[in-house]
Amino acid sequence: MAHYLVTGGAGFIGSHLVEALSLTGHSVTVLDNLSSGHKKNVETFVSNRVKFVEGDIRDTALLDQLVKNCDGIFHLAALVSVPQSIEQPKDSFEINLQGTLNVLECCRKQPHVRLVFASSAAVYGDTKICPVKETIVGIPLSPYGLHKWMCEEQAGLYAALYSVNSVGLRFFNVFGPRQDPSSPYSGVISIFIDRLRRGQAPTIFGDGSQTRDFVYVGDVVQALIKAMNSKKQGFAAYNVGRGESVTINMLWKILCNVVGADLPAKFGPAREGEIHTSLANISKIEMELGYAAETNLKEGLKKTYEWATQ
Ligand SMILES: NC(=O)c1ccc[n+]([C@@H]2O[C@H](COP(=O)([O-])OP(=O)(O)OC[C@H]3O[C@@H](n4cnc5c(N)ncnc54)[C@H](O)[C@@H]3O)[C@@H](O)[C@H]2O)c1
Repeated sequence: MAHYLVTGGAGFIGSHLVEALSLTGHSVTVLDNLSSGHKKNVETFVSNRVKFVEGDIRDTALLDQLVKNCDGIFHLAALVSVPQSIEQPKDSFEINLQGTLNVLECCRKQPHVRLVFASSAAVYGDTKICPVKETIVGIPLSPYGLHKWMCEEQAGLYAALYSVNSVGLRFFNVFGPRQDPSSPYSGVISIFIDRLRRGQAPTIFGDGSQTRDFVYVGDVVQALIKAMNSKKQGFAAYNVGRGESVTINMLWKILCNVVGADLPAKFGPAREGEIHTSLANISKIEMELGYAAETNLKEGLKKTYEWATQ
């Protein structure tokens, strides 16, 4: 059994990862400053094998201390809001880029430690290539996207210069239980479900023809664990999606169908800078890591709705 550090482990994706690791007998230290995560997300898993540390990835002394005795680091902590990164680019720089550099430095000092970190489809920006492959070099549209891309470049250099082995996973639109709908910028599915629970119609920005590749959080956890268990040396980036896209209009229709509601959505002005199409080519992660998206959109929506209404 291994010991892992999970940064951002009290967040949406991180808490599912912590749950999966602890259920399979691993020990975990969660490091989270609770800026967008919640202690209640991991409280039930805290045990003699799962420890919660409230702290910041910008605190290098704390990171050094926590990485000692670790076999691997899952680095998910980030300033996750794209609009917030546009308003506060320096915060994005310090948390997303410098924070990841801090984690890479820990790995450099502990060469046996393997790193898997959260990158994002935002590295592609508004590429017109669809489905998009890892070899495409995009033009990020926000500090968030730029810093995620720079994290990958840093990781590539740390592999070449210091033999730090790492994987960056470019998550597309992740959804599932524990995604927080309270922010206006959180995942569209958590917002749609929140509106449905209140019997309110959501507002779709633009005409709803924009497409997204929604991937269930359980499949993202699968990708994270497969990346950690892989013996690949050096650095590699992989798309993590379902490899299928859906329009936002269709998403609302499917969700209404899943919960038996008949509520037409409202439409508002398109959001500036919003990308129109997003679809992952997932053949690289399927072939190299044995990943397979197992939960289809309907099943995932059902599980997420059940969680939200329990
Ligand atoms: N949810 C998605 O669709 C999606 C898509 C692409 C990439 N990602 C990436 O996946 C990762 C997890 O995202 P999520 O959706 O679970 O978001 P989240 O906000 O639920 O999780 C992020 C966690 O990081 C913590 N955190 C933030 N800054 C920190 C700091 N300085 N020190 C310590 N902890 C800090 C937050 O409190 C939170 O618990 C992030 O890196 C995000 O950029 C998510």
